[in-house]
Amino acid sequence: MSEKMRALVVTRPGGPEVLEVHEVDRPRLRDEHDVLIRVKAAGINPADWQNRKTRAVYDNDGETTREKTILGIDGAGVVAETGSAVHHVQIGDEVWYIDGGYAGNPGSYAEYKVMRGDYVTAKPKTLGFTDAAALPVVALTAWEAVFDKGHVSSGDHVLVHGGAGGLGHIAIQYLAMLGAKIAATVSGDAKADLVRKFGAELAINYRMESVENALLNWRGAPGAQVVFDFVGHGNFAASFKHTADYGRLVNTVVSDWPSGGNAMAEWKNMEIAFVNIGLPQISRNHVIRLRQVGILKKVANLVDEGKLRVHIDRVVPFEGVAEVHRALEAGETLGRSVLEI
Ligand SMILES: NC(=O)c1ccc[n+]([C@@H]2O[C@H](COP(=O)([O-])OP(=O)(O)OC[C@H]3O[C@@H](n4cnc5c(N)ncnc54)[C@H](OP(=O)(O)O)[C@@H]3O)[C@@H](O)[C@H]2O)c1
Repeated sequence: MSEKMRALVVTRPGGPEVLEVHEVDRPRLRDEHDVLIRVKAAGINPADWQNRKTRAVYDNDGETTREKTILGIDGAGVVAETGSAVHHVQIGDEVWYIDGGYAGNPGSYAEYKVMRGDYVTAKPKTLGFTDAAALPVVALTAWEAVFDKGHVSSGDHVLVHGGAGGLGHIAIQYLAMLGAKIAATVSGDAKADLVRKFGAELAINYRMESVENALLNWRGAPGAQVVFDFVGHGNFAASFKHTADYGRLVNTVVSDWPSGGNAMAEWKNMEIAFVNIGLPQISRNHVIRLRQVGILKKVANLVDEGKLRVHIDRVVPFEGVAEVHRALEAGETLGRSVLEI
């Protein structure tokens, strides 16, 4: 095994042009609990362009700067080396994981990655590495949103904002498993086809029609009983209006509270919940991280049973990641995109 590896490196915060392919030292096990992964594919997530722009080379304190960092918050690959305390995986195992990509912990835009062995688990047997790498972050986040925070019952009328995105198309499939009636917002026909394919009854093109009117006509009453906001910012504020009385709003994007939000939420008896799957990495909460690994195991089973599918938009080499970052930031991609290594 070479002592060097290729990686997509960021040396300063900035636009897609700060992504540079470098030859860097291959990482080594830090202690007996670590594994070395030969990364075969990495998910390209919105968090990557967000981190690249703002905090790519910073530690969590926002001040400690590093010379360079490697983005990429999830991936799939082969175990290449194990520490002496790692027993549940062996060299050659095909695994997937969520780990690193910011705050001083190198991510998966690289040929190799070191991480604690407890946080890798077997990838779905029925998926290749590229498709597998598309799933961990969105499958976990949508899981926490739908199953942990959504409290959705069969027959509930549910709205998914950003329905054709990475999170959206997975959340729609989970909601269909729960027997929900699903509406999703989209910006065009191809995205409308995608959300319908995965189980949405209603695709609302928010550029062409009022979401509130569409929900009223669909449910016969104002708003949806549960709203998943995977877009954030102005859409978070709008989502208060899209939520029915006694309804629930679940958000995954840090957004400003709307003016008059408290009054509206109280008036409607709304519940509002947030999901942040990155917190246990930052707070080093081992128990929650193991819980997240448990969710990835359940997701792998759903995939292998043919109950969960991922839609792949683009598969690119290192040199293509900048263009995917640009497209993701513009909301142009459908489903997920992947870096193949
Ligand atoms: N909190 C967490 O733990 C967590 C975890 C994962 C992701 N996230 C965040 O959740 C959000 C969704 O993630 P994702 O993977 O589903 O992203 P994605 O694949 O890019 O999908 C987001 C969708 O939002 C829609 N959209 C509407 N207005 C937009 C705008 N101004 N800019 C960009 N997109 C817009 C786009 O679809 P239309 O064109 O159809 O409108 C887009 O496809 C991201 O902000 C991501 O960072 C948070």
